[in-house]
Amino acid sequence: MATEHDILKALSSIIDPDFNKDIVSLGFVKDMHIDGERISFTIELTTPACPVKEEFRRQAEEAVASLPGVSDVCVNMTSKVAAQPKVAQQVPGVSNIIAVASGKGGVGKSTTAVNLAVALAQTGARVGLLDADIYGPSIPRMMNLAGQRPNFEKKTIFPLDNYGVRTMSIGYMVDEDQAMIWRGPMVSGAVMQLLNEVAWGELDYLLIDMPPGTGDIHLTLAQQVPVTASIVVTTPQDIALLDARKGIAMFNKVNVPTLGIVENMSVFICPHCGESSHVFAEGGADKLAREQKVDVLGHIPLDIQIRLDSDNGTPIVAAHPDSEQAEAYRRFAGKMAQKISIINHRKIDIPVMIQNG
Ligand SMILES: Nc1ncnc2c1ncn2[C@@H]1O[C@H](COP(=O)(O)OP(=O)(O)OP(=O)(O)O)[C@@H](O)[C@H]1O
Ligand SMILES: [Mg+2]
Repeated sequence: MATEHDILKALSSIIDPDFNKDIVSLGFVKDMHIDGERISFTIELTTPACPVKEEFRRQAEEAVASLPGVSDVCVNMTSKVAAQPKVAQQVPGVSNIIAVASGKGGVGKSTTAVNLAVALAQTGARVGLLDADIYGPSIPRMMNLAGQRPNFEKKTIFPLDNYGVRTMSIGYMVDEDQAMIWRGPMVSGAVMQLLNEVAWGELDYLLIDMPPGTGDIHLTLAQQVPVTASIVVTTPQDIALLDARKGIAMFNKVNVPTLGIVENMSVFICPHCGESSHVFAEGGADKLAREQKVDVLGHIPLDIQIRLDSDNGTPIVAAHPDSEQAEAYRRFAGKMAQKISIINHRKIDIPVMIQNG
């Protein structure tokens, strides 16, 4: 009969490439039950969005099934996302805050934030999405929640849910032309209020869809909001890259690590002939990433279905989950979650490179 020692020894051959350590030393193996020849245990990962989750399960099943005296192996995969202390302290219940930013406007921040949020929620993560774009909130429309009003109870505001994501936007509360006359301090005040007075509940990841630019409002937000890390969205165009560089510099200034760059509208694939064209030039984001020593977290194509789904309030990862575009968002979500895990595991505040990323 296999003993607990034999099983742990077999499982210690499985290495988590992100931490470069085996899953037993990392403390991922829990709740082991040995019932004669039947073995069951849990592997608790650092994120439900782990891209190698199924690979780990397969390896664990194989490693234990190959032991003498084992006839049946049941592996339960779970996860527990670690909280960044400064986030959990300031926004109780929320483990990590990720700012989705860009220097230049219109490069696809909101589209990226929405699809990223839904992709994370689809893995089972608890996800929130805060629209910090006070002048031009897009989240209500993109999440098919336009025209809805949140519930209030005393000083608490309740988020509006769709696609498994809890959202909040100034667009639920004031007319767009009303917000247009607000000045900078009012804007950051409003965002802080949404962050602190919304009943977010328990969240693994709270994404913030930032307004375009790198001005005073952005700096104030980056300083006041306890951000775990930022993601900078750019198109491959020179001007957008220049602004993305400013975005990274701004977060550096306030000691917020940039997890990486997302190159949006990276390549256009003709829906008729399938030919790809680099409408906004090629290779720019990779070059910027090398220069800034950050990763490219994803390349999202310029694609009409992404825009149509976005306009319809049905993010492509929900509306067309089998599409290649949805897969690109899911890969990107997995990478983001991995990097957040690494940051929290190492308790460091510096950019992290993923091998072969
Ligand atoms: N990969 C893509 N393919 C096709 N259209 C896209 C893509 N990404 C974004 N879009 C479209 O581009 C427009 C701008 O996108 P979005 O609103 O997400 O940008 P933004 O950076 O948030 O803008 P702003 O700076 O105004 O907040 C939208 O119409 C959106 O549907
Ligand atoms: Mg936007």
